[in-house]
Amino acid sequence: MASWIFRAFKSFLALAKSGRSVTEFSKAEQEVLQRILMARRDVRGNRFSRDPICEEDLQTILRAALWAPSVGYSQPWEFVIVTEAATRKQIAASFSEENARALPLFQGEKQQKYQQLKLEGILETPVNVAVFYKQSGKPVLGQTSMPEPGEYSVVCAVQNMWLMARALNIGMGWVSILDPEKVKYILNAPPAYKLVAYLCLGHVREFLEQPELELLQWERRKEMGEVVHRERFE
Ligand SMILES: Cc1cc2nc3c(=O)[nH]c(=O)nc-3n(C[C@H](O)[C@H](O)[C@H](O)COP(=O)(O)O)c2cc1C
Repeated sequence: MASWIFRAFKSFLALAKSGRSVTEFSKAEQEVLQRILMARRDVRGNRFSRDPICEEDLQTILRAALWAPSVGYSQPWEFVIVTEAATRKQIAASFSEENARALPLFQGEKQQKYQQLKLEGILETPVNVAVFYKQSGKPVLGQTSMPEPGEYSVVCAVQNMWLMARALNIGMGWVSILDPEKVKYILNAPPAYKLVAYLCLGHVREFLEQPELELLQWERRKEMGEVVHRERFE
């Protein structure tokens, strides 16, 4: 059993790296994708091992981002790879400020729990990636009634990175407790760019089987029946 999973996983990676188009998937491949979806985790702090990420793996993860769907095929994403410790320290300082501001928003037991949470891995990871949305100056097919699909497209790219990283056994954490304007200033981003995601990437000591926030009883996973409606809301 383990051997076919391994073979299927290897062929999935080979296809992903080759860039060949795929028209049909086997049952084994479907199951591998489901395993990757279920095994993806947000990774933080000392769960990262501090081992370096090789350039080939980083390229594979970024290439996965570029395969994401985007409104009007606008591909409105840009990425800044951040490895310098001095830059990451500046970003981490923004996190500390924003995290301190968040604490009083939670009350009682939640506030105590919040204090114990480690909500980023900015300094523990070898590679951070800031992901920006670049608004087009021209009308974009599909984005003429709602402005949001541009940013949604960037989020699709981030999800591709998360899944590809997991398939490579690399952990990724999304940090949104940041002042986006400070991050833009630190990274010298042009005014029209919007920060969508700040990602921490690194090898891990362990991947948790459940979301950490579920294990810590911060939130529980919602059941299908709670969130899926038939035909209309009741
Ligand atoms: C848009 C977005 C922003 C997030 N921001 C943070 C964050 O600032 N810090 C953090 O620790 N986790 C962050 N997360 C991770 C979530 O907490 C995590 O996805 C959730 O707890 C479920 O866990 P899992 O990703 O391991 O399944 C973010 C996730 C998303 C999708």
